[in-house]
Amino acid sequence: MFKQARWDRTLIFEQSSSGRIGFQLEKLTKREENLLDHCKQKIPSDLLRIEPPALPEVSELCVVRHFTRLSQMNYGVDSGFYPLGSCTMKYNPKVCDLAAAIPEAQTVHPYQDPSSVQGSLQIMYELAKWLAELSGMKKVTLQPAAGAHGEYTGIMIVRQYHLSKGNLNKKREIIVPDSAHGTNPATVSMCGFETVVIPSNEDGCVDLEALQAAVTDRTAGVMFTNPNTLGMFEQNIEEITKIIHEVDGLAYYDGANFNAIMGKVRPGDMGFDIVHFNLHKTFATPHGGGGPGAGPVGVTSSLESFLPIPTIDFDHETNTYFLQYDHSNSIGKIRSYYGNFSTLLRAYTYILRLGYEGLKSVSEMAVLNANYMKTKCQKIKGFSIPTNKNSFCMHEFVLSAKELFKEKNISALDVSKFIIDHGFHPPTIYFPLIVPEALMIEPTESEPKKMLDEFIDILMEVSNLAYANHQDTILEAPINASIGRIDDVKAARQPILSYRMMKRKEE
Ligand SMILES: Cc1ncc(COP(=O)(O)O)c(C=O)c1O
Repeated sequence: MFKQARWDRTLIFEQSSSGRIGFQLEKLTKREENLLDHCKQKIPSDLLRIEPPALPEVSELCVVRHFTRLSQMNYGVDSGFYPLGSCTMKYNPKVCDLAAAIPEAQTVHPYQDPSSVQGSLQIMYELAKWLAELSGMKKVTLQPAAGAHGEYTGIMIVRQYHLSKGNLNKKREIIVPDSAHGTNPATVSMCGFETVVIPSNEDGCVDLEALQAAVTDRTAGVMFTNPNTLGMFEQNIEEITKIIHEVDGLAYYDGANFNAIMGKVRPGDMGFDIVHFNLHKTFATPHGGGGPGAGPVGVTSSLESFLPIPTIDFDHETNTYFLQYDHSNSIGKIRSYYGNFSTLLRAYTYILRLGYEGLKSVSEMAVLNANYMKTKCQKIKGFSIPTNKNSFCMHEFVLSAKELFKEKNISALDVSKFIIDHGFHPPTIYFPLIVPEALMIEPTESEPKKMLDEFIDILMEVSNLAYANHQDTILEAPINASIGRIDDVKAARQPILSYRMMKRKEE
C-alpha cells in the first residue's frame, strides 16, 4: 500500500529566528578584505546591494530536517516507476554519480590552463566522438545546457549557413510537424524565423504531400523529431530530407528521443545535417526540477565551421587536447565555458559502462517495453490508440482516454490522479496536443516486466471502476499522496513562486 509523507508544510523562511546560524564562514583575510573593497569600488553604486540578502536564519538541524522532510514528500525515479512520456525518466545508475563526485572532477576550474586539465578535455573529446559516431555526424559541441538550448544552437547554425550564402533575406521559414515538442516552434521564433506547421497523417507520421506543398524557396530548413512525439518512427524519412535539400534547406533532427535508436539507425545516414541529444534523457543523467542538463549538437562536415567556439580538439603531433577557437563561420559562444561538465561526465561514464552493444540493447529494451505496454493498454475499455493500433511503436506511445471521458466522464487528468495514489508517477497528459485526452507513456528500458504489469493493472482498475459507475472513488484521488488535488487553474493564473511573492500577496 502506497502512502506518502505529509509533513507540516512550513517554509524554511517561516522557521527563521533572528540570530540563529547553521554555518559559519571563515573570517576574511586582510588580502581578501582589500580585494572586496577594490571590487566594491568598481561596481556602479546603483548596482551595489546595500542591504544583506533576506536569507532565513536557521540552525543546521533545522535545515537537515526541513530538506529531509521535503524529500520524503517528493517522488523521484529512485522512488518508483516514472513513465512520463517524452521525458525518459529512466533509472540513473549510481556509478555515474560516483564518477562525477571524484575530487579531481569537482575541483577543476574552467579557467585552468588546458595543459593542467588534459584529462577533463580528453573526457569531453571522447564523449563528443561517441555522440558523433552514434548519430553519423562529423563533429559535436557539448556546450548547450539543455535540449531546447541545443535546438537554439542548431537553428542559429541554420541561420548562419544561409547568412554566409547571402540568402537569409529569402530563407525565412522553418517547417515543423504539428506533433512537435513546443520547444521546436519556440526555437524557430527565437532565431528569427517563421514556423510553417504541417499536419500528421493517420499513422501519426508526417504527411508527405503536405510537406511537399509547404516547401518553397523560402524554406530555410525543417525540424523533425524522430521517433516523433507519438512514438512513431517517421516513414519516408530519406525522401523528406531529400525534398528539403533540393531547395537548399537544412534538416534538423530533434534527437531528444535518441534512446529509441542507439546503434540501430543514425540521423546522418537518414540525410540530416544537424542533431541535438538530450544527455539528461538518453544518457541517464538526473533531470527534472530544472537541474543541470546537456543538449550537445552534432553537425555534418560541411557545417563544422559554424559550430560555437571553442570546440575541443586533439593535436596528434604533440599528443595534447586543446581548445579550438578558429572556426571561420562560428555562431560564436552560446554558453560560458564548455558545457555542464558534471552532466557530461555522467553521460561519458554511462556510455563507457555499457559500450556500443550495451547502448544498442538499451534501445531494444526501451522499444520492447513500450510495445508490451501498448499492446496490453489498448485492450482496456475506455482507452484507445490514436494511430494505427496494429503498428509498432518505438520507445513510447500515446493512449487516448477519450472514450472513458465521453462515456464515463473520467478525464486523462482524473486517470493521472488515480495513478498517483497507487505509488506511480503519471504519464505525460494532454500532449501531444493533436490527441484528445492524451496519456503519453514511456516505460523506458530500466523497468522490469512486473512494474509494467502493475501499471497496466491500475489502468484496468480505473476502467473497471468507471464502467461500474464508481467514478467517485476515482475522483477523490489522490488521498495517499503528500498533496491532494490542487487548483490547477489558480496555480497557472496566480503563481506564487517565492517567499517574497507570498509576502507581497499577504500585504
Ligand atoms: C522531443 C523533445 N524535444 C525537445 C525537448 C527539450 O529538451 P529540454 O527539456 O532539455 O530543453 C524535449 C524535452 O523533453 C523533448 O521531448
